Amino acid sequence: MFEEYTKVAIETAKKAGKILQEGFGSSFKISSKEGKNNLVTEYDNRSEEFIIENLRKHFPEFSFLAEESGKTENGNKCEFVWVIDPLDGTVNYAHNLPIFSVSIALTKQKEILCGVIYNPMLDELFVAEKGKGSYLNSAKLSVSLCDDLDSSFLVTGFPYNIDTNPGHCVDQFVQMLKRGIPVRRLGSAALDLAYVAAGRFDGFWEINLNPWDVAAGVLLVQEAGGLVTQYNKEPYWISDNNILATNGLIHDQLSETLIACYLEINNGN
Ligand code: IPD
Ligand code: CA
Ligand code: CA
Repeated sequence: MFEEYTKVAIETAKKAGKILQEGFGSSFKISSKEGKNNLVTEYDNRSEEFIIENLRKHFPEFSFLAEESGKTENGNKCEFVWVIDPLDGTVNYAHNLPIFSVSIALTKQKEILCGVIYNPMLDELFVAEKGKGSYLNSAKLSVSLCDDLDSSFLVTGFPYNIDTNPGHCVDQFVQMLKRGIPVRRLGSAALDLAYVAAGRFDGFWEINLNPWDVAAGVLLVQEAGGLVTQYNKEPYWISDNNILATNGLIHDQLSETLIACYLEINNGN
């Protein structure tokens, strides 16, 4: 039922997930990039090398945007770009916390054609293809039906440079908690989005993410019937600075709360 590129992305994500699973808990090399807590393990690199090699074997002309190796254009500039996070949740992985994923999406200009997120520890494979819906291990996904922000279950994340550039994310987080809303921080934006698609969470927001963190997850949420915009409800693209992804029903309420918090702080109240 899926296009060839989705099938290849699935096979690749599953094999990369196996590489991560085999390395999980072993004594691997860990180093820091741009700031002491932004880690990279030898398994980020191993996974990425495998993913690029395998995708290139099937689609030699496609370009890449991958977290560890950046942009690769394969000679002729190709409008098909694989957007890859070889290990989303590196800090968890480095501390032997089994919450992480592999995320692979295929984009064509400003369209996401397919998105695959794989959590090898739970053997959960999330797949979306444009126009064909979202799936978890072959079962069709739908976002949740919660329409009241105060009864919702949310997830967010914080950027690595939060100490020098906190934006308003801490205040927004505190605001939700003070309202009594349960908010989680899992440490894998790809899984956060996949879980919104699966109806496990009702909404997700975060600033300063990169295209590889979100590309697959955005399509998963959209194809599961959810809504993805910027905080202010402007259309969202994967290079934008902030993302708001919900079941659609709490979107206005969550957007208003995030923006109100921002305005309150900027106006010094
Ligand atoms: C990180 C995770 C985390 C998010 C960070 C990302 P990485 O990706 O997605 O949830 O809060 O902003 O950078 O570094 O584990 O691939
Ligand atoms: Ca990431
Ligand atoms: Ca990563």
